[in-house]
Amino acid sequence: MNNINSILSQSYIQQKQAYKNTEKTQNSTIQTFSTNLDVKLPDSRFYLPLIAFKGLNSSHVMFGSALTEARKNYTPTLPEVYSNGINSVSVEIGKPTKAVGNAKEIEALFPNTYGQPIVSFKPTLTGENINKKGIDGNIGVILSGGQAPGGHNVVAGIFYGLKEINPESKLIGFFNGPKGIITNKQRDLPQSKIKNLMNTGGFNMIGSGRDKIEKEEHLEKTLENCKKNNIKALVVVGGDDSNTNAAVIAEYFKQKGSDIQVIGVPKTIDGDLKNEMIETSFGFDTATKVYSELIGNLQADKLSSKKYWHFVKLMGRDASHITLECALQSKPNMALISEEIAKEKKSFNDVIEDIGNVVIDNSNKDEDFGVILIPEGLLLFTPETKKLFGNISEILGKIKNDKDKEEMYSTYTTKQKVQYMEEHLTSKNGNLYKSLPDAIKPQLLKLDSHGNVEVSGIDTERLLMDKVSEYIDKKNEFNKNNPEWKKVKFSPKSHFFGYEGRCAAPSNFDANYCYALGYNAVALINNGLTGYMSTIKNLDKPAEKWNVGGMPLTGMMNVERRNGADKPVIKKALVDLEGAPFKKFKAERDDWKDGTDFETPGPIQYWGPDEVCNAKTKTLEYESAVRAAK
Ligand code: FBP
Repeated sequence: MNNINSILSQSYIQQKQAYKNTEKTQNSTIQTFSTNLDVKLPDSRFYLPLIAFKGLNSSHVMFGSALTEARKNYTPTLPEVYSNGINSVSVEIGKPTKAVGNAKEIEALFPNTYGQPIVSFKPTLTGENINKKGIDGNIGVILSGGQAPGGHNVVAGIFYGLKEINPESKLIGFFNGPKGIITNKQRDLPQSKIKNLMNTGGFNMIGSGRDKIEKEEHLEKTLENCKKNNIKALVVVGGDDSNTNAAVIAEYFKQKGSDIQVIGVPKTIDGDLKNEMIETSFGFDTATKVYSELIGNLQADKLSSKKYWHFVKLMGRDASHITLECALQSKPNMALISEEIAKEKKSFNDVIEDIGNVVIDNSNKDEDFGVILIPEGLLLFTPETKKLFGNISEILGKIKNDKDKEEMYSTYTTKQKVQYMEEHLTSKNGNLYKSLPDAIKPQLLKLDSHGNVEVSGIDTERLLMDKVSEYIDKKNEFNKNNPEWKKVKFSPKSHFFGYEGRCAAPSNFDANYCYALGYNAVALINNGLTGYMSTIKNLDKPAEKWNVGGMPLTGMMNVERRNGADKPVIKKALVDLEGAPFKKFKAERDDWKDGTDFETPGPIQYWGPDEVCNAKTKTLEYESAVRAAK
């Protein structure tokens, strides 16, 4: 093993040096280096020649660490159904779908794409007629919304699927999310670029963005630019909002008599794009493993120094799936689950008391240290802050929809914006808003392009920390003459784990899943489908055994209030309080309170024993067990 490592790193250094030398003398954008290496990695894959690349988007040379370079040679596993190639599968038509809510409204808004059936792919039987639409042109791809580990593998899956069907076809990548297609900022993605970014984290291949293709002029431009680039199908890689967008585009194309197809791919670390057909969104596996590693490290640190309470906010703008998964992996002293707090109608102050009491209980055992996990979206769930956010969203939505107001508001300083809000909120919401620390107030005034308050920008962990501090101070003060009272020492530290995990190199699970999702998207296109999400099921099994198919996007939609108006959107999946992961957490959490049962999951492993490098998330494990038992 040591020998392999030393050869590997020596080879890597040699290659890096070779690159630098060539870089000095040449000025071309793409260089390929054949280094005659055939060093075997522990999993018997070969260390292939490297390709160093200068992205058109930037002047940075994409040359990774030894691990990144070695990782590029990991070959994702495709489900067995594709073992004879993408043309060898045929479509099995399932049941027609209905929207998950507001069916009549959704049907009226999507008359051309509503009600399509669920489909799955199966091997074609001998003699069966495979009537494929084929792809007589190019495919366009957009990466949309927040980054998630594995995006590059989705693109790779699309690329290789497409080339199998038509080697002349090109994969066109639109830059920086939906606005790339509106403005026709694109490039065709050559194999060299795909290979170079294989199994790497980030969306830097083409960038991402949160713009929406919603207005008529945007939709017109989208169609125009697809035609200009001879695009026959567009793949939108995104979360619930981006896939809502994909549904709108698919419908628009049909309305306009265009046969350009649109397929969505379920992406988001948040894990809330989930339903009977989508067992998990890609990125959740890797991101939660990264965060769990860090949480485990903090737990070891707290036990070593014995002096800090760590308040860890975890990403996941609405749902608490990430927090729940990280809690199941690392077993912290306490983890808040927003959905439970909402169900129990706990106020913000109740939450502070709950935390404060855990701190006091531990202090009584001379343990003034611990770890508390906080979901990013907590304040969207405690009733009074939820109302406040809704009120803010309406007010900012109205400003956005009124040109004069918007112009005026855009000239305001931060202080004036806060003042405007204080004056326009209802009196109850206004009082709450005014009671917040000055540093937090402006953080509540940013909406994303979908009209949501940007919760990742709110220092909820600091707010909780400060409020718990006040609670402990009050308790200490109140009990200062009480001989029974042991003075509580409280030294909190705040952390926010979010961006740290979104661009991690995908785990084996995400590397395989993403590649298969991209490849399967092309199979949907090849079979003439539009307005579908690429879906893969049976994910707790090895990748060979996965089931592949598609789910109509309109079948996941309902109507929700956004930006002060009712909008058709894909329904988010919040943590199911009757679901197996939450039940397991609920059954075990009391044992974790004293902090002795914690776990340190350690870093993601890419090579090694199956149970280590191919471990699934606890969420997937527990949910799959329930599915299997049905
Ligand atoms: P997506 O739903 O687009 O995948 O993004 C999720 C997320 O990572 C949230 O957890 C977080 O609130 C948000 O993105 C942060 O967005 P931004 O990158 O715009 O700061």
